[in-house]
Amino acid sequence: MKNQMTVLFSAIFIFLHMVAQANSEELPAPEGDSFWKYISRISPYTQWSHWSDHEGLQKGRAPHGKRHRVFVNEKALASSKPPLQYGSIQVKESYDKAGEVKVITVMYKAKDYNPDHGDWFWARYSPSGETLKAGKLMGCIGCHATRGTNDYVLVHKFE
Ligand code: HEC
Repeated sequence: MKNQMTVLFSAIFIFLHMVAQANSEELPAPEGDSFWKYISRISPYTQWSHWSDHEGLQKGRAPHGKRHRVFVNEKALASSKPPLQYGSIQVKESYDKAGEVKVITVMYKAKDYNPDHGDWFWARYSPSGETLKAGKLMGCIGCHATRGTNDYVLVHKFE
């Protein structure tokens, strides 16, 4: 009886472990609030890395603010040439003069989301994570499409 219980508990433990792992690898939906939950709690972007040619605080152009920092996830970094792998995410923090985060803009490569424009999901958040705009935003696409051959990415050049 004792042995059977041990086997049963081990099986339950292994099952729960598998469920937990599957969840942590699951990609977020391309939707404002659930995407914010993913990049702030499930896989906090502040722990991610940067493009090697765009690390640390960088000078920016309009409309994004004078100073910014761009964080990229593993999938983006693992993309050696455009298009980026599905699941790639770029998060950009823009700062005001005092060095405080003013706004957060993101790009997320989601399979079959918007095939006409590189399958990118675009969003803009307040520093506390309020969704200001999200979706297939033509305002964002218009500008970033100037580098269509670089898969809409402006801060990193693929060799
Ligand atoms: C007027 C042109 C323009 C518009 C509109 C624009 N961007 Fe950008 N974006 C840029 C430029 C230029 C950069 C390069 C960094 C910089 O100069 O700030 C950039 C960089 C970025 C980055 C860093 C990663 C990368 O691909 O370079 C993200 C993320 C981003 N923009 C998101 C957005 C989102 C989301 C929107 C719409 C809400 C948007 N952008 C609208 C011009 C624009």
